Amino acid sequence: MRHGNFEPEPDHRVNWRIIRHLTPYLAESRNRVLLALTFLLLAKGAILLIPFLLKHLVDALDGQSVQSLAPALLAGLVLAYGAARFSNVFFAELRDTVFGRVTERAMRRIGLQVFRHVHSLDLDFHLNRRTGALAREIERGTTGISFLMRFFVFNIAPTLLEIAMVVGIFLYNYSATYALITLASVAAYGFFSLRATEWRTQFVREMNAADSASNTRALDSLLNFETVKYFGNEDFEARRYDTELEKWELARRRNRLSLFGLNGGQALIIAIAQTSMIGLAAWQVKSAEITLGDFILINQFMLQLFLPLGFLGFVFREIKGSMANIEKMFELLALAPKVVDTPDAAELEMARGRIVFEDVNFSYTDNRTILNNVSFTVEPREKVAVVGSSGAGKSTLVKLLFRFYDPDKGRILIDGQNIHNVSQASLRRAIGIVPQDTVLFNDSIFENVRYGNPRAEDHEVEQAIELAHLSDFILALPEGRDTLVGERGLKLSGGEKQRVSIARTILKRPPILVFDEATSSLDSKTEQAILAALRDIARDHTSLVIAHRLSTIIDADRIVVLHQGEIVESGNHQDLLAKGGHYAQLWQAQQRQEPSRQ
Ligand SMILES: Nc1ncnc2c1ncn2[C@@H]1O[C@H](COP(=O)(O)OP(=O)(O)O)[C@@H](O)[C@H]1O
Ligand SMILES: [Mg+2]
Repeated sequence: MRHGNFEPEPDHRVNWRIIRHLTPYLAESRNRVLLALTFLLLAKGAILLIPFLLKHLVDALDGQSVQSLAPALLAGLVLAYGAARFSNVFFAELRDTVFGRVTERAMRRIGLQVFRHVHSLDLDFHLNRRTGALAREIERGTTGISFLMRFFVFNIAPTLLEIAMVVGIFLYNYSATYALITLASVAAYGFFSLRATEWRTQFVREMNAADSASNTRALDSLLNFETVKYFGNEDFEARRYDTELEKWELARRRNRLSLFGLNGGQALIIAIAQTSMIGLAAWQVKSAEITLGDFILINQFMLQLFLPLGFLGFVFREIKGSMANIEKMFELLALAPKVVDTPDAAELEMARGRIVFEDVNFSYTDNRTILNNVSFTVEPREKVAVVGSSGAGKSTLVKLLFRFYDPDKGRILIDGQNIHNVSQASLRRAIGIVPQDTVLFNDSIFENVRYGNPRAEDHEVEQAIELAHLSDFILALPEGRDTLVGERGLKLSGGEKQRVSIARTILKRPPILVFDEATSSLDSKTEQAILAALRDIARDHTSLVIAHRLSTIIDADRIVVLHQGEIVESGNHQDLLAKGGHYAQLWQAQQRQEPSRQ
């Protein structure tokens, strides 16, 4: 399955499956929905009253008996008219207020569900995703839900209801011709709007694409600010940006012209309908078939009816867009994580911390084996080092131990329990890792360290900072431990980030410790100091160390040499040197490079 690409494909069908998906959220707030519907009916009732009140007012004022018209009656009609106008707006507002809570609750529920789900997806998904697109996807999806709920419930359905009532009133009280004109014009209007909107979709899409393309270009350029400067490519960047802007400008123009076509056509249909209604009514007044009040009533109904219709094209397009966005979000929700807890997953029971890799085979993609029959054991409280050239598969071992992936063959056991059969949460609680590349949250240094154990007291965090040799660095900062580290920790150097990461793990203090080239960015003095601290901490722990510099693992109980995914040698430092194999070669190469280190 390809994941990672979530650009919405515009969908041309109204998708009832989505409506079904959303019903549980409506059902959850059933009372509020019913209340909102009641307010909707009240608002619609008020608006249907208005033409009748106007008719009676005009008829009362128009007749011969206007002199003898009872002031009380006149005042009553005027007040009723005012009350109806106010009620219409008031109940509509009440309806929105009451219903707002329903949509917001649904958005919150679904937003959280998606967030949790995305976190549950496997590493592969996250490596393939484009974060910006994914975030937009989720945002569009939840906004789409709010839009769909509001407009389907409160725009489309009531407008249809209103049309039906008006047609009924015309049919019942007046000539059937009015009803016919209304129906014909509404049908023509609806048909034209839908077709024109469909036709316009391509221009809207073109415009949105041009919009994101120019945004992406600008963003990418700004993210690469330093590179742009290093190469003096400001003008080149500006030209590339302008090329996108030009496309955007053109797309906007096409879009506007097509909008002109749509609006113009709609206005023409409305004008024809109104002219024929007014004409017919005028003639009927002239021949005394209806009163002047009826004339006003008919005109008023027409005005009121076409007002919501004016939005119909827009609403239809938006609803279709929302459907496509929600669909995408539900597709995301339907993605199954590749790594899941087995149904009867037990908690990992830590005894002494013995790790066994047993005949493990693994490949990320079908055609390339990364690990081949890897077997080794880390006895409790042992320190085992894995060494090998870059790309040998060392970090992959760690990812398997953390169960970011499942091995294709073989087993990984911790204290005799296959990690496949224990819950991921309990497994990950038991292991602490200082990863090869540390990415930090855009928060203060102090809080980034506390992330290792969110419940830790301040003094515990301080202690971890001390042990990770971060205190001198923090003291030198003007804002001390509250210094913000920037997006992804970009304001810290590689070595500083590694130390934050070490402090985090010290704070977590899990039974099993894993270091993946954890000190590779440190200078040798800091490295030695931290290694001493880590040796202290690791004394009672089982540790797996992936080493960059061999000098850091001379004291390991066992060294496993990985070469192209296979274990080619293992033993302690002295044994391996005496053997004169891979390890001895690596050692000599490093000695030549960095003689001063020893
Ligand atoms: N998610 C991935 N998809 C495909 N190949 C990967 C992935 N992660 C790592 N690899 C490849 O697997 C090999 C081993 O990677 P890794 O275990 O990180 O090596 P190292 O020994 O340097 O830590 C490398 O050749 C790398 O390109
Ligand atoms: Mg690695």
